[in-house]
Amino acid sequence: MNQASLHKYLAFDSKKKTKAIDFNALYEQRLATNLTLIKDLFFSLYPEEAHENAFNQLLISLPKLFEQRPSSLKELDINRLKEGNWFQSEQLVGMQLYVDHFNDNLKGLEDKLGYFEKLGVNFVHLMPITPRPKGENDGGYAVNSYYEVDPRFGTKKDLLRLTEKMRDKNMFLMLDFVANHTSNEFPWAKKAMAGEKKYQGYYHIFEDRTLPDAYEKTLPEIFPMTSPGNFIFNHEMQKWVMTVFNQYQWDLNYSNPEVFIEMLGNLMKLANLGVDVVRLDALAFMWKKLGTLSQNLPEAHTLISLFRMCLQVLAPGVVFLAEAIVAPNEIIKYFGSGTLKANECEIAYNATLMALLWDAIATKKTVLLYKNIHNLPEKPKETTWINYIRCHDDIGLGFEDHHIHDIGWNAQLHRRFLLDYYCQNIDWSPAKGYMFMYNPKTGDGRITGSAASLLGLEKALEQKNRGKITKAIDKIIMMHGIVLSYGGIPLIYAGDEIGTLNDYSYLSDSDKKEDSRWVNRPHQDWDAIAQLDTQKTYHSEIFYALQHLIHIRKEHRAFADQNNLVLYDSRNIHILIYERPSDNDEGVLVICNFDEVSQTIAEITLGSYGASSNPKNLISGKRVQFMDGNLKLRPYELYWLVKTK
Ligand code: GLC
Repeated sequence: MNQASLHKYLAFDSKKKTKAIDFNALYEQRLATNLTLIKDLFFSLYPEEAHENAFNQLLISLPKLFEQRPSSLKELDINRLKEGNWFQSEQLVGMQLYVDHFNDNLKGLEDKLGYFEKLGVNFVHLMPITPRPKGENDGGYAVNSYYEVDPRFGTKKDLLRLTEKMRDKNMFLMLDFVANHTSNEFPWAKKAMAGEKKYQGYYHIFEDRTLPDAYEKTLPEIFPMTSPGNFIFNHEMQKWVMTVFNQYQWDLNYSNPEVFIEMLGNLMKLANLGVDVVRLDALAFMWKKLGTLSQNLPEAHTLISLFRMCLQVLAPGVVFLAEAIVAPNEIIKYFGSGTLKANECEIAYNATLMALLWDAIATKKTVLLYKNIHNLPEKPKETTWINYIRCHDDIGLGFEDHHIHDIGWNAQLHRRFLLDYYCQNIDWSPAKGYMFMYNPKTGDGRITGSAASLLGLEKALEQKNRGKITKAIDKIIMMHGIVLSYGGIPLIYAGDEIGTLNDYSYLSDSDKKEDSRWVNRPHQDWDAIAQLDTQKTYHSEIFYALQHLIHIRKEHRAFADQNNLVLYDSRNIHILIYERPSDNDEGVLVICNFDEVSQTIAEITLGSYGASSNPKNLISGKRVQFMDGNLKLRPYELYWLVKTK
């Protein structure tokens, strides 16, 4: 039982005693419940002998922060607690978008809430809308403020109106908290540059190259092509600054407790805008230690849990998403492990599934996918995934080499094949993607491109090849059908619901052209959307197929995440089968064919969903036909089977 479960219990208990909600009494109760944990976590990062004062500072700031939370949100917090793990619901379907690329600004977005409703989307991730430096700013991931709205998107008033409207429509909002770094224009960075020692202590700043050189021995490079190394020389200070991502993104120094306390204040100001899920950006990098990779360190987990335990007292309705695009066994730890189990982030990106799905598309085989998923530790029952196929970032091949070896493939050659397949180095490949940050020193590279272009639609349209167009569309639908049924919040990347192709306009923008991730950050095509109901195009085919899948998802409780996922051995290397079982035998069996030709599977592999259960495919609405004890699947066909007997 995690801390959130205790808070849920207390929220119910309080209702019995009083009619009107006494927010302060509830706050006191929550603080009492978490205080020992907060103290232990704090002193394990910042030893008591040296940091007792800082802890007192934290204790003084907590009630002040609580006071700032609007009462409407305090009430929402209580309701969320009572609802329990709302984020595991089958009712949630998400979309991620850039506000300016979607429909100009926040007002424009508000005008399009009906579009989300039409598709069935009720959870929206807005990419950063906070102020950022002019010129290069990593799409807003270089922040000048944590809670103001950049004028290009509108005003804070616009945002508050939007969040209120979304709440009225029962929609959820996710925003980023770029916890690892600020921009070099952030007020603290400016004060540091002006020579203020206090603020130089907020970053990792060094007099000379001794420590940077020592760090570089083990620190990997995140953007080796555009931002090699992990330090930049700052001329104003005549000192070196740690910049793990881009050179204009300064890493915060969390070994200084003042940074933690100030960032908690920033986090609360963000939460108070009416955010339901806070996306903790690049959280794996938050703690640095000489002689290590400075990723996924135990201290980073302690720190995130400390944020979690404080936020649970202040704003218990707000949950965390871990943006940890790291090795499969490391991702799972962001849910909290050991004594912190389920007390860290409630949600994490299922980057493992995402990468494996792209592997299965390229190889037309599901062997590596099975191998990896079988070996994943189970996540805590109070947590869930965000399942996705594309987002604004590149696709990293973040699965384990030893699993590739285990299935008899050469890991290095296999990774090379995947890069070649997606990045146009193989003639027969239908994919049209690009290499991102290829590092000749290590041979590592990542992949960019829109889902539709990577799945072959762009080339097929260029070739005007109807057969290939159909295959690409089927792949797009099947891939979404998996993330919509896998267990967790499905997150559709805006544009993918209408098969948007790569966008090459970034090449003529000097601030973007070095970063090929912009190829898959397209503008929403409202002209195509205007014709969805009147013309049969690939846009409408994909849109209505996804709308249909979303509708079915919401009608079946089995799709809620209760850790109810069972992999079936398909006995066919091209097929993936998993069941989403449910208590009263109302489970769903998902079957997908990753091959470009038809495949058959033996009825026996379907377990209790065989002929005697007279199974029906929820997607087509038809009963399943078996031939000689076999089920035949068309290329890239997707089944969601239920028993009718
Ligand atoms: C996250 C974001 C990515 C950004 C990086 C640095 O990984 O998703 O777009 O470049 O953090 O903030």
